[in-house]
Amino acid sequence: MTTRDTDWDGVRLHVVTGKGGTGKTTVAGALALALAARGRRVLLMEVEGRQGIAQLFDVPPLPYAERKVAVGLGTAADEGGDVFALVADPESALLEYLEMFYNLRHAGTALTKLGVMDFATTIAPGLRDVLLTGKAAEAVRRKNVRNDGSRGRHYGAVVMDAPATGRIGRFLNVSAELSDLARVGPVRGHADTVQSVISSPETVVHFVTVLEEMPVQETLDGIAELRALGGIRAGGIIVNMARPVELPANQLEAAADGQLDTDQLALELKAAGLDDSPSLAVALAAELSDQARTALAQRALEQRLRAEGQPCYELPWVTGGMDLAGLYRLAVALREQRAA
Ligand SMILES: Nc1ncnc2c1ncn2[C@@H]1O[C@H](COP(=O)(O)OP(=O)(O)OP(=O)(O)O)[C@@H](O)[C@H]1O
Ligand SMILES: [Mg+2]
Repeated sequence: MTTRDTDWDGVRLHVVTGKGGTGKTTVAGALALALAARGRRVLLMEVEGRQGIAQLFDVPPLPYAERKVAVGLGTAADEGGDVFALVADPESALLEYLEMFYNLRHAGTALTKLGVMDFATTIAPGLRDVLLTGKAAEAVRRKNVRNDGSRGRHYGAVVMDAPATGRIGRFLNVSAELSDLARVGPVRGHADTVQSVISSPETVVHFVTVLEEMPVQETLDGIAELRALGGIRAGGIIVNMARPVELPANQLEAAADGQLDTDQLALELKAAGLDDSPSLAVALAAELSDQARTALAQRALEQRLRAEGQPCYELPWVTGGMDLAGLYRLAVALREQRAA
């Protein structure tokens, strides 16, 4: 099987962050579809318990279990692999962790009674995070025995619909965040294993943004934060909900400056059979000049993003509301730009 050359060959954990509402969940879903190529199994994971993935794929609310939600983007030559989804919550992750490592099969009820669960997940926010990132790390590392007896990775890739940019550094820097809580012992060991996955070249953090000042600034801050932390790699910058600019480039500046020739415009409107063309021309010129200013501002923001030196991708605004068809369109766009 040949591997297609993408920007992220060898990456197995794709963490998707960004300012709230910029399309993290949507882009994470599209990326999962795009990565699930050639029979590759992909896990799409949600960590904030909002059932965004279920909504996105139009399936009933998802439990703490890996459920198939879609088939990945296929090509003429290859079939898409399965996309599984998982809603990870800290409580379930803690129970699973205790079962796996201590064989405490019925620990759950006792712990809940004792209120240990409350302690673990409310009082100790660092632990909460390590349980969630730990689940992702476990899925990345999980192995299967293949038909020929060799051992292979269960998932070709894991995509995490992660917390927003403002929280991403702390969320992923599990070892440091936990240090006061657990200096030694099994939790420490677990955190270090998780950190080693997150800090390995197999993990990257993608930033979703729209071309507006605040989300772009958050993206730049987020990338700077990761660089300062060291060890956690920034991935791609995904400009979402991009709309085509209607005006040709050479008219943008003039339009933005309010220098459109309204007489000429009026003549053209008249030629097109529109009544009251002079006042229409003035209104239209004002509208165009607004659009042109926005387009120029967006271009400047895009240049600031590109200056970071991370691969940049652009996803179109899907008209008429997001649905599965729209999601596959975004997946195609990601693949065409070599993001997957
Ligand atoms: N490319 C797109 N074209 C059109 N609509 C989009 C696009 N991407 C996202 N949306 C829509 O924008 C809204 C926000 O998207 P989404 O829920 O993915 O953002 P989010 O960053 O995950 O938000 P939150 O911070 O609340 O988790 C949704 O209604 C979604 O359908
Ligand atoms: Mg979301």
